[in-house]
Amino acid sequence: MGRTLKRDIPGIDRRVPPDEIGEKGWEAVFAGDVERVFPLVVELGFGRGEFLLDLATRAPDVAHVGVEYSHKRVLKLARRIARMELCNVRLVNARAEQVVSELLASGSVQMFWVNFPDPWPKKRHLRRRLIQPAQVALLADRLVPGGILEAATDHLDYAEQIDAVLAAEPALENAYAPARFLREVPDRLPTAYELEWRAEGRPLHFWRYRRRAGPEAP
Ligand SMILES: C[S@@+](CC[C@H](N)C(=O)[O-])C[C@H]1O[C@@H](n2cnc3c(N)ncnc32)[C@H](O)[C@@H]1O
Repeated sequence: MGRTLKRDIPGIDRRVPPDEIGEKGWEAVFAGDVERVFPLVVELGFGRGEFLLDLATRAPDVAHVGVEYSHKRVLKLARRIARMELCNVRLVNARAEQVVSELLASGSVQMFWVNFPDPWPKKRHLRRRLIQPAQVALLADRLVPGGILEAATDHLDYAEQIDAVLAAEPALENAYAPARFLREVPDRLPTAYELEWRAEGRPLHFWRYRRRAGPEAP
């Protein structure tokens, strides 16, 4: 039998229900914890959350939002954040697509991180992939001019899709050009999944795209 999931939060609970964000807005959600809420840093599908914790610890004045649809993962990270007394992070237990479309305003995000999103390898599941043209157009819209979208995958077929979709989005420009993507990013903290794929020797792909500031942006 597995270990029982601990449900108590040993400190302040930094999870926020989507309805509450919709009603109050991010400024109220972060009130008193960061001086300037916008633009936000957002990680979609944070998994175990170590990457988000590292980002938030390194930039205590910046408001960070982690989105993850696994209830268990959100609960575990909320417990950890409470123990660390980290006040510049909020966790949303919801689908990334919902948060991006309904809870983030245009031009409100300085950085999106999409680290090793689920590749959904079966053909009938392909439409569940997070990086799709319509979704990337929305992500680009939510970024401030000059804002950054970072993505990574180990999955070859998904890598081709991500590469094509990002390159085709007119509001974004490739910050790694002339390279289409990098295999290694110096000084980047590896995520939990990344460590697993590295140990298996899988080739990794990292993209960095910037929201255009000029007339090309819609
Ligand atoms: C392969 S794991 C990668 C986790 C982490 N980013 C890493 O690199 O270690 C993908 C994560 O995204 C979450 N996820 C998948 N689809 C999602 C969605 N549509 N919205 C929010 N989270 C999602 C999964 O629950 C899982 O934790």
